[in-house]
Amino acid sequence: MKPKTLFICAACLAFFVSSCKQAGKEHSWTVEAPGKKIKVEVMLAGNNQPAYRILHGETVVVDTSFLGMEFRDQPPLSENLNVVKAKQSAFSETWETVWGDQQKILNAYSQLQVEFEETTAPHRRFSLDFRVFDDGAGFRYVFPKQEAMDSVVVMDEHTTFQLTGDHQTWWQPGDWEIYEHLYNESLFSGIDALSKRSKHDLAQSSIPENAVNTPVTMRTADGLHLTFHEAALYNYASMTLKVDKENRRWVSELVGSPDQSKAKLRTPFQTPWRTVQIAEKAGDLIESTLILNLNEPNKIEDPSWIQPMKYVGIWWEMHLGKSSWDMAGVNHGATTANAKRYIDFAAANNIGGILIEGWNTGWEDWWDDKKRETCFDFVTPYADFDLNEVLRHAKAKGVRLISHHETASGVTQYDKQLDTAFTQLEKLGIHSVKTGYVGTIIPRGEYHHGQFMVNHYQRVLELAARHKVTIDAHETIKDTGIRRTWPNFVARETFRGQEFNAWASDGGNPPNHIPTLAYTAMLAGPMDYTPGIFNIKFDEYKKENQVNTTLAHQLALYVAISSPIQMVADLPEHYAGNPAFQFIRDVAVNWEWTRALNGEVGDYVTLARKERGANRWFIGGVTDENGRTLEANLDFLPKGKTYQAVIYADGPNAHWNDNPTDVVIRTQDVDAATRLPLVLAPGGGVAIYITEKK
Ligand code: NOJ
Ligand code: CA
Repeated sequence: MKPKTLFICAACLAFFVSSCKQAGKEHSWTVEAPGKKIKVEVMLAGNNQPAYRILHGETVVVDTSFLGMEFRDQPPLSENLNVVKAKQSAFSETWETVWGDQQKILNAYSQLQVEFEETTAPHRRFSLDFRVFDDGAGFRYVFPKQEAMDSVVVMDEHTTFQLTGDHQTWWQPGDWEIYEHLYNESLFSGIDALSKRSKHDLAQSSIPENAVNTPVTMRTADGLHLTFHEAALYNYASMTLKVDKENRRWVSELVGSPDQSKAKLRTPFQTPWRTVQIAEKAGDLIESTLILNLNEPNKIEDPSWIQPMKYVGIWWEMHLGKSSWDMAGVNHGATTANAKRYIDFAAANNIGGILIEGWNTGWEDWWDDKKRETCFDFVTPYADFDLNEVLRHAKAKGVRLISHHETASGVTQYDKQLDTAFTQLEKLGIHSVKTGYVGTIIPRGEYHHGQFMVNHYQRVLELAARHKVTIDAHETIKDTGIRRTWPNFVARETFRGQEFNAWASDGGNPPNHIPTLAYTAMLAGPMDYTPGIFNIKFDEYKKENQVNTTLAHQLALYVAISSPIQMVADLPEHYAGNPAFQFIRDVAVNWEWTRALNGEVGDYVTLARKERGANRWFIGGVTDENGRTLEANLDFLPKGKTYQAVIYADGPNAHWNDNPTDVVIRTQDVDAATRLPLVLAPGGGVAIYITEKK
């Protein structure tokens, strides 16, 4: 990959006006998106309290919603405010991504910055910055340096989102520790997050109220889609949303810490952006770029070492119980010979990387709560794993090694070893690491999503960038678009991954899992879901567990899921001799553009993508437990040419449970006028590879 400067297309238009557009009310200002459809009104209401409304055309989508903050040893900051100044500006640029769903992104917005000051002593000051895009709006609190506020301890943020109806909602409980919950679908009034806690989470985590995690997606009675999330989360606690049924609104609830505070800060500081994405069609949410646009440009000057890739791993075999992470186990997975077997398989099949879990000492004790803090050593390989020899073999075969740092959430210890571990990675020429945070955080009392951990993940990310290492983090904080600024954060597992299908006692991920995640968790950022399981029932290893999709659905995930790294997760022997594996060999991982062809939240999703730098197109569609016939409009293909489509579809008798491996592969000529029928079985999918005909 060639070094890239992000601002290659700098059609920048920025201007400031000092006057404010009045919305016909006292103390109120209106700011419109460039396309004029979405509007935000900002006002002082009630007892001179800041508030806002969001409109889509004539429809109010977020009604008058009050804002405020609470600090330790200070009066709350929400009432008796005066507007000192309000200014509007507009901005437009096109920037280029290092990798991702779209190569070029238009960042066009109107901005309104309103400065407030208390009318009474101590006359504290802050502003609210609103940015309004054609795909939604974001706002944040900005606190300048000031005498009355130097060090501050945020005890609460009172951001509210006043809903205009009892919308259909796709939500997961507002756990402070982990996002590995299934999403639920109910009316807003039916959200019961507390009942959705698993035993595991009851034991180890805290959900203080009936709250949900973001991204949370809603559909209004008019068919409008709204997703609530946050952007640019740095040095602050993550935001969950409390379900205030009485007033039919979301209320921000920041993740806590051992002393009950939410964030310790010094002025000047700003909160993350609070975001509302607005879409007429469900698929438009997937194409939305609002979260990335609310982040700062890339800080990695030469990102050429960041390479999107498919990867295999010594991984699924441990989850199936075929081998173990620890060397004392019956059959240690990460041996030199086994690593070479996977490397050879990757090299033979157009797969760029190999993840090796269980390569380092310490796995004997990682489940022991007394030992997990100190058990792991992030530089010492097990005796039966010759790291240098594996590296030599991988380099000779052109396969990149992905190292693994499972911390067991012993964060204090990991922090101590960070410098040594990342220095070793750089010395060995290893450019990728997968990190993991299983278990509760040590120091005890801190939460995975609190300010302390947000800062830890950031420290690791920036250190990794200095050592030219990409991060794929599991059990970490949700993405808030910071991959724009730090493109070495390539993917996360901040949802229930494929691993649950190997061992969950609740039956695993249901067929509607990805059709739901595509419009919720995936809106946060790239998902390391680890698709591609061909041996769907794996009875040889686990009779009680299985993947709840068809094989064609597994193929389609390489396109339906956004991520610059995609695992080819099954065991090499499970792909042997299966012609459907050709799709995995062929499929790309980095995209010039991505379009949602059709879809409904929780039901189905079909994406079309064009490979970056090549005339190759891919389509991936997956459905829930209902079979359906869809249509792919191929009008995205350049006109005047004929193309070949290789279609991997569910066979006539395919069914996620009764007959998951029934796949038919056929080839067909297509062009820009083709409307391709897509027939999906219950829990099924379709994967299509299109090239120009020679
Ligand atoms: C949980 C991760 O999600 C999984 O991918 C990994 O194999 C285990 N932790 C062990 O680190
Ligand atoms: Ca996990």
